Amino acid sequence: MIQEINNLKAEMLGKLEIINNAKDLEQFRLDYLVKKGPLQALFDKLKTLPNTEKPLIGKELNVCRKTIEEKFGDIKQSLESQVSSEPTIDLTLPGRRSFKGSYHPIYQTLDKMVEIFANLGFTVANGPDIEDDYHNFDALNFQADHPARDMQDTFFIKSDRNDVLLRTHTSPVQVRVMQLQKPPIRTIMPGRVYRNEAISSRSLAEFHQIEGLYIDKNVTFAELKATMMVFAQKMYGENIKFRFRPSFFPFTEPSAEMDITCYLCNGKGCRVCKHSGWLEVVGCGMVHPNVLKNCGIDPEEYSGYAFGFGIERVTMLRIGIDDIRLLHENNYKFLSQF
Ligand code: DAH
Repeated sequence: MIQEINNLKAEMLGKLEIINNAKDLEQFRLDYLVKKGPLQALFDKLKTLPNTEKPLIGKELNVCRKTIEEKFGDIKQSLESQVSSEPTIDLTLPGRRSFKGSYHPIYQTLDKMVEIFANLGFTVANGPDIEDDYHNFDALNFQADHPARDMQDTFFIKSDRNDVLLRTHTSPVQVRVMQLQKPPIRTIMPGRVYRNEAISSRSLAEFHQIEGLYIDKNVTFAELKATMMVFAQKMYGENIKFRFRPSFFPFTEPSAEMDITCYLCNGKGCRVCKHSGWLEVVGCGMVHPNVLKNCGIDPEEYSGYAFGFGIERVTMLRIGIDDIRLLHENNYKFLSQF
């Protein structure tokens, strides 16, 4: 009978060895481990043996059953853990959305402006965000005690030189361009600018400007007006109405500002345009002879015009919003509209 036990044990171990799924394991159970199976048959046979043989054979049979049951349990457990580590698909889960990035409205405006001015023959130049007092103020005809300096609340940077600051406008890039290039010069200069201002619906401490500069022989104010007019029409449509108002900047003489009709009330007067019907879009003027001189250009020979747009302002008018902060909050819901 020992032989029979060993044979059955070997047979069962052989079968268990190759089982790799729950179905085969169940079949094994049905074939060998049920009440009417061959293992139980051996236990039944044990009962018929003489009492002297029972202990030895019974022990052998029990060892056999224990071995097989352990092996069976191990396989069952490992198959179950395989099942639970397989990815399950929950068909009721909402689908995963992929969020598509897009160009920020400020940079959409910038691109459009660069395109408009490039078509008018302007190149693009850049300058540093960290400037010195000379380029930001002095060279632009802000004298040391000039009251116009008060117009700018400036972030100064701690340094040994005491004249280092975050540029308050893109106008210092004009100076750098004129120092490097000989006229004719026809360039726009986009970039970030910084002012120590309280943040509100109308102002930010960090924003963007585009500076423009045209220097050549016999440049006139009429050309400046024409350029601003073409810009307004290309940016806001052929039917846009605009007007020029006299203004003051230390680096231009004469100076002007251009307004366009308010996008919200179409000129009737509302909260956004402070009931005037007009919104300011650009400061401009004829480059002051002192600025030309400071940059090594003879004002007797050359003249030129300059202009400076706030890109946020142009964007607000383009997309019809009245709070500048919306452009810097990076709110996905807001940005995905454009
Ligand atoms: N720099 C001026 C500002 O930040 C804007 C400006 C006005 C630029 C007139 C110009 C200009 O070039 O001619 O307010």
